[in-house]
Amino acid sequence: MGYFDSIQGRPIIRDHKALSFTYVPKELPHRDEQMKRMFSIFKSVAESGVSQNVMLHGRVGTGKTALAKRFSMEFKEWAASKNAAVEFEVVNCRRRTSNASVVLALTNHFDKHFPDRGFSVPEMLDVIKKYLIRDHIHYLVILDEADVLLRKAGSDLIYILTRFEEEELRDQGSVNLILVAQENVMDLMDEASRSTFKPSNVVTFERYTEKALYDITEQRVDLAFHPRTVDHEVMEQMAAIASETGDARRAIDLLEKSGQLAEEEGAEYVNVEHVRKANAIAYSTLDTSKLDELDRAKTVVLLSICRALRKASVVTTGEVQKVYKLVCEEHNEKPRGTTQFWKYIQDLSARGIINTKRVKHGAEGLTTHITLTEASAEDLETELARRLGK
Ligand SMILES: Nc1ncnc2c1ncn2[C@@H]1O[C@H](COP(=O)(O)OP(=O)(O)OP(=O)(O)O)[C@@H](O)[C@H]1O
Ligand SMILES: [Mg+2]
Repeated sequence: MGYFDSIQGRPIIRDHKALSFTYVPKELPHRDEQMKRMFSIFKSVAESGVSQNVMLHGRVGTGKTALAKRFSMEFKEWAASKNAAVEFEVVNCRRRTSNASVVLALTNHFDKHFPDRGFSVPEMLDVIKKYLIRDHIHYLVILDEADVLLRKAGSDLIYILTRFEEEELRDQGSVNLILVAQENVMDLMDEASRSTFKPSNVVTFERYTEKALYDITEQRVDLAFHPRTVDHEVMEQMAAIASETGDARRAIDLLEKSGQLAEEEGAEYVNVEHVRKANAIAYSTLDTSKLDELDRAKTVVLLSICRALRKASVVTTGEVQKVYKLVCEEHNEKPRGTTQFWKYIQDLSARGIINTKRVKHGAEGLTTHITLTEASAEDLETELARRLGK
């Protein structure tokens, strides 16, 4: 057995490809509305050759790029069943920031070997035109991160592309623009280009809710993980963390990192502590100077929370209080009464070290749920114990 075989744990992740940011799942949960809007806008392209231009916008990780790709794939297939030829090309304008390099990518779609030097933008557009006319192609041109191109090169190219067929194609095909950006790029266009975008052809992507992020996470677990390696509570924890930004990329990233950490540990499945560790590695905002400000009594309370949270994603104040008694004994601290204990919890929450949430609890009324997302409970516990030992 080789070295890596001996350190490799039981595999938890089955298919890393399904966790990559370029992978586009067949279904996009919670994006039906946007998919339907896109279809109702583009239907006429395949049916009667009228071209359309749309704009997709929304915050980071709201599924704009994924939807633009999935929509184009599905639409191409649907159009084929109606005997209409649809082709599409996704151009990332952060990587291609000049008009010439964008148009080159659009040309390469039809001719992979088209030389990347020596041809002007109008010459390349002529080449594209020939292909469109020859095969009566409706071309979906997806300019992803279009804001970068607009800022660097202005709206000339967008203007040319939106007027393309008016002058030249005459029902022999069409060019359809899909502009994708986090902001509303309408503001970055000049008047003439803007006028070719109908205000109704704007599709907005809201931030994902916690529930949506749970469903997106669950789908990736099914696609990429071995059965029964990620349970409900773990997925809830990931969704809760990602819901701070409403960003699906963060949920998927957490899922992959947590899976890797579990594998490295040789664990049988992913647990909530792996999730916290993964989050702390990637996104930690807990700076340890916050811990310096805690006196001994508060440090003991925080350590108790960490210990109670080792195996759970969330604990109640009652549960922490039980652990607290033991921790006080270990560190020769006098346990404080409930009122004082409660004040310490509030103080830790106000400092942003822990998160607290009042929730309904049976007939008795309210209880407080405590969670920790900025740090691994285990790592933090080790650090606190070290501080108390001094
Ligand atoms: N509804 C969804 N269902 C499944 N996966 C999704 C969904 N929305 C987004 N994702 C996934 O989340 C990640 C981020 O999505 P995407 O790249 O589409 O976001 P974006 O809106 O383009 O973000 P940015 O503005 O940063 O480019 C991708 O891996 C994508 O596959
Ligand atoms: Mg994107």
